Amino acid sequence: MQRLTNKRIILGITGGIAAYKSAELTRFYKSAGADVRIVMTHAATQFITSLTLQALSGNTVHTSLLDPEAEAGMGHIELARWADIIVIAPASADFMARLESGMANDLLTTLCLATDAPLVLAPAMNQAMWRSAHTQKNLKLLEQRDITFWGPASGEQACGDVGPGRMLEPIDIALLTAQRFSNLSLSGKTVHITAGPTREAIDPVRYISNHSSGKMGYAIAQAAIEAGAKVKIISGPVNIPCPDRVDCVQVESADQMLAAVLTDIDECDIFIGCAAVADFKPAVLADNKLKKGTSATMTLELVKNPDIVATVAARSNKPFTVGFAAETQNLLEHARAKLSSKNLDLIAANDVANAETGFNADSNALTLISADDQQHLALTSKTKLAQQLVAHIAELVNR
Ligand code: PMT
Repeated sequence: MQRLTNKRIILGITGGIAAYKSAELTRFYKSAGADVRIVMTHAATQFITSLTLQALSGNTVHTSLLDPEAEAGMGHIELARWADIIVIAPASADFMARLESGMANDLLTTLCLATDAPLVLAPAMNQAMWRSAHTQKNLKLLEQRDITFWGPASGEQACGDVGPGRMLEPIDIALLTAQRFSNLSLSGKTVHITAGPTREAIDPVRYISNHSSGKMGYAIAQAAIEAGAKVKIISGPVNIPCPDRVDCVQVESADQMLAAVLTDIDECDIFIGCAAVADFKPAVLADNKLKKGTSATMTLELVKNPDIVATVAARSNKPFTVGFAAETQNLLEHARAKLSSKNLDLIAANDVANAETGFNADSNALTLISADDQQHLALTSKTKLAQQLVAHIAELVNR
């Protein structure tokens, strides 16, 4: 069920005795790491309280299309765009009929009309209602519109009848939901990425740093999210907002970056060192602003910073570790040397002498080198390049 990590699920609940099972389904989704928003029809609220589902989902439950307070929080169109999937469980015969006829007379049907997300129905109703010609016709028409049906199961029903119409068990619906996301290349993987520059303080007002903007690292984070991963960025100071669904940790110096990286490195499957970490820091941090004095020169003693990506790659249970090599000459030779000296699984050689592929550019080109392979990714936007890099990493990791 790891594939549900970070997934945005709208759980629609319609009126039926099986509505009580939606509470357990909400718990399964939540414990698998999904973000769950509940939308209930009026009839559903007669079977289970919105308070129960609010407590379990950790989010306000949506029950009305015409609720100004709810619309001010997350409006129905925003909600429809937000979802990665809409699962309606239980789905009543009445709901199937309204959905088939294209009605938008409550919040749930309106969402279904407005969304581009996949729609799944887990029907639950009396066996005779399920077998009826109307319901069977609605089922066929809805299936023709790419709406998926999970169940119903057959068996003893709350009304005493025996036959098809039981809602699938919540665990089965949760597992089927996870399977829907299984085609994503990094589903279930946790990716940690360092990005941006570090700042090495000289005194309270000055520091040593570089021109890294964070664009490359943040684009990789976005691509990894799109590939289904759980993503964390450990970032030096940049002017880019934290991407949606990414956990961002802000640091300044290399020492702070290393500490933040090591905090939860055991949870990480793939580590990508894209940050331009300062190789050196001042040996002494002055307590007060250094005075200019009368001398025409000034000497600053520097000491080596810890090597973050090499520290990660030296661990006995190291994650799949990817480094970058920012070079201005002998690009591939230096990159290969770093691949081996830092014990990396893959290195992305980056020619930073070229304005189109260097620090702060919107475009880039990379040569990906592993022990037995070399592939060039041609000049393109950092967004597209990040997607190609993530696809390459996924192929190696999943091999
Ligand atoms: O941020 P942008 O403006 O988008 O620019 C992107 C980039 C040019 C910064 C990026 O594509 C890039 O090349 N990042 C690596 C920069 C760098 O520090 O390269 P390096 O060759 O000096 O370091 C080799 C590897 O060791 C890198 O993975 C680096 O993160 C890591 N390293 C270096 C020193 C150190 N003390 N700790 C490290 O982890």
